[in-house]
Amino acid sequence: MSPHGHLQPMISSQASAISGEIVVPGDKSISHRSVMLGGLASGTTRIEGLLEGEDVLNSAKVIAALGAKVERDGAAWVISGTGNGALIAPAEPLDFGNAGTGCRLFMGLLGSYNFPSTFIGDDSLSSRPMGRVLDPLRLMGTQVLNEEEGGRLPVTLQGPRQTAPIEYEVPMPSAQVKSAVLLAGLNTPGITTVIERVHTRDHTEKMLIGFGADLTVETDQDGVRRISLVGQGELKGQDILVPADPSSAAFPIVAALIVPGSDLLLPNILMNPTRIGLIITLLEMGANIEITNERLSGGENIADLRVRSSTLKGVKVPANRTASMIDEYPVLAVAAAFAQGETLFQDVGELRVKESDRLAAVARGLEVNGIACEEGDDWLKIIGDPDGKNYGGGTVVTHLDHRIAMAFSVLGMACENPVSIDDGQIIGTSFPNYPELMNGLGANLAVKPL
Ligand code: S3P
Repeated sequence: MSPHGHLQPMISSQASAISGEIVVPGDKSISHRSVMLGGLASGTTRIEGLLEGEDVLNSAKVIAALGAKVERDGAAWVISGTGNGALIAPAEPLDFGNAGTGCRLFMGLLGSYNFPSTFIGDDSLSSRPMGRVLDPLRLMGTQVLNEEEGGRLPVTLQGPRQTAPIEYEVPMPSAQVKSAVLLAGLNTPGITTVIERVHTRDHTEKMLIGFGADLTVETDQDGVRRISLVGQGELKGQDILVPADPSSAAFPIVAALIVPGSDLLLPNILMNPTRIGLIITLLEMGANIEITNERLSGGENIADLRVRSSTLKGVKVPANRTASMIDEYPVLAVAAAFAQGETLFQDVGELRVKESDRLAAVARGLEVNGIACEEGDDWLKIIGDPDGKNYGGGTVVTHLDHRIAMAFSVLGMACENPVSIDDGQIIGTSFPNYPELMNGLGANLAVKPL
């Protein structure tokens, strides 16, 4: 069911063109971290451009329950933090809704505090593995007072009087696990070190340095990163401007590529190198994407994008690109459906533990809409057809996964037969007003009133 307890079907019918300009909401990863570190730092943090999706709003509620003061000032959010190490015990279980990032990062943060905290979420979040965060926390001395089978929510953590610093090599490519250990290290004496073989999104490292933490990153000749944080330092409130989320921009970008006659502008898109795998892949497929006005803002790379309808060809997406586009595979599958030839996703097993089993959800969504694909344990092959306007007509099951809902809404924009989506409401977790914004560009999304 949806966060509000019921499904709200959405139908996507053919669009004439996807044109104009879209202001894509703030980056979800940066928004979660801004709220969290703002609530932890001493002094005031002012955040502009915060994503006001349900996932981030839940993080804001949680940091307030832990002692921070969270206020709105016009369009900005102003947070007065407690000071590093000074969070207070929550009075009630902390509800993260659908948000894996919020839940796992706060587990790291709170795992070092000597009070119990209970983590709960919706059906999707409650089915996702938390052991990947609980394992390093246990090494630091955190007790897991309660967990459901397989390290699932509800989970209750209790930190020791003082956590022990660890050196931890993250066993899977996961920015959430890396971040959880670093956040636990913030309230731990000595140096906490995380080693990552695959370079995942680095917003936690960048933002911790921005807030004044003593954090260093060394990269060896094989690209292995060693991230060391000196614990118990002071964090100071910052002014933050959140750039537009490339993972949300992915949906209008692919829509403009596959709907004939489209010409779309997307200003201020985050172009952090750990996040642009989709853009690189689409360019290799022959996409007409112009990247202009490249600049730095708050330590992050930003650019404006112009996207026009394109003739695409299938590609083999290299396995070493997976981390930099992990959330973009569902919509890339839709682009691949309209490409000439086959597209192969390799080494994408992590997709099975996202908000849904995304490999299976994408494969079923393609099949039910007449698109040929083959699914392996950790790979997916899509057999494209540039003349795929006869696709569509199917109903896609979203399994409480916002990105499945948006990806298949994009499919419907380019087909003569409408695509039905069993629930559009879940999109509000990451992309508020998605139907309205897309319809403003020429899409034809109808959301059934509740
Ligand atoms: C995120 C990390 C990724 C990504 C998620 C956001 C983050 O998850 O899929 O949407 O903000 O750290 P993993 O770390 O599990 O790969």
